[in-house]
Amino acid sequence: MTRPLRLAVTGSQGQVARALVERGTQANVEIIALGRPKLDLLEPAGIFAALEAARPDVVVSAAAYTAVDLAESHSAEADAINAIGAGAVAKAAAKLGAPVVHLSTDYVFDGLLARPYHEDDLTGPVGAYGRSKLAGERAVAVGNPDHAILRTAWIFSPFGKNFVRTMLQLAATREEISVVADQQGAPTSAHDIADGVIRVARNLKADLAPRLRGIFHLTAQGEATWAEFAEAIFVLSRQAGGPFARVRPVPTSAYATPARRPPNSRLDNSKIAREHGVVLPHWHEALAVCMARLVPGEFKKAS
Ligand SMILES: NC(=O)c1ccc[n+]([C@@H]2O[C@H](COP(=O)([O-])OP(=O)(O)OC[C@H]3O[C@@H](n4cnc5c(N)ncnc54)[C@H](OP(=O)(O)O)[C@@H]3O)[C@@H](O)[C@H]2O)c1
Repeated sequence: MTRPLRLAVTGSQGQVARALVERGTQANVEIIALGRPKLDLLEPAGIFAALEAARPDVVVSAAAYTAVDLAESHSAEADAINAIGAGAVAKAAAKLGAPVVHLSTDYVFDGLLARPYHEDDLTGPVGAYGRSKLAGERAVAVGNPDHAILRTAWIFSPFGKNFVRTMLQLAATREEISVVADQQGAPTSAHDIADGVIRVARNLKADLAPRLRGIFHLTAQGEATWAEFAEAIFVLSRQAGGPFARVRPVPTSAYATPARRPPNSRLDNSKIAREHGVVLPHWHEALAVCMARLVPGEFKKAS
């Protein structure tokens, strides 16, 4: 058997980091998840030592300041983590001779295009989180030419803080939930992202071709509004004997949040399919897998 690929991942408790740990075993990949305090993106000076100790073949930059609304009032922290910290990770990987796979977001776009976004479409983040992630993409590209930046969106998983868990939690105490129906995207499973990351990491390690490097979009197949996503969650939950709530579709304007969000979060995935051979399953399929872990396990119907 060939030696397992060694991936050092930033963050240990994040959705993608935890999914990578679970997927690594099946894929003959050793995952070294580096969370705080071992690796703190706010302490760039310690990043190289933490990564060096992990002796990675490839570095996966998955940790980030992901609180989209809080970022509006904490933009300096978001920038320090998502831009300066991500750049330091990429630079450290370069010093170790390792490629870096960096996760980014649909929020680098303003979401006003009427079609799925391509990698080279004009960016224009509408909030502090998106601006910090865009600065991070640039810092990663400068820090390590041997990089793949994977923009994904609407991540869900059985763990952490995400829309699926929030809906199930709310349904425990509410009969009806208002959900925005004018933002579109592809809900994407952290486990499917982990599979994509592993494939890309293998390709970067095995092949120096420039076409494998640069920016790629990586989301599930299919699309939905948040309201449609919520409907699907409750259909599956009810079938499995879990919590249920009616979904009331509302416009974004009825749901005030500190951060603006792009109305169109759809990303075109043809480049990563063509160059890396990565095609993620449809979000509905992935949701069923996630729900099977959550309901009726952690989430039971209130009696
Ligand atoms: N969530 C989404 O819907 C979404 C959408 C598009 C793109 N993305 C991007 O995809 C990536 C993975 O997202 P995710 O959902 O897995 O994120 P997540 O669950 O919110 O986890 C973020 C991770 O970053 C870590 N982190 C935060 N500040 C840190 C610091 N100063 N030093 C070290 N680690 C720090 C957190 O550590 P603690 O556990 O210690 O807090 C956590 O493990 C991120 O780059 C994110 O920007 C996410």
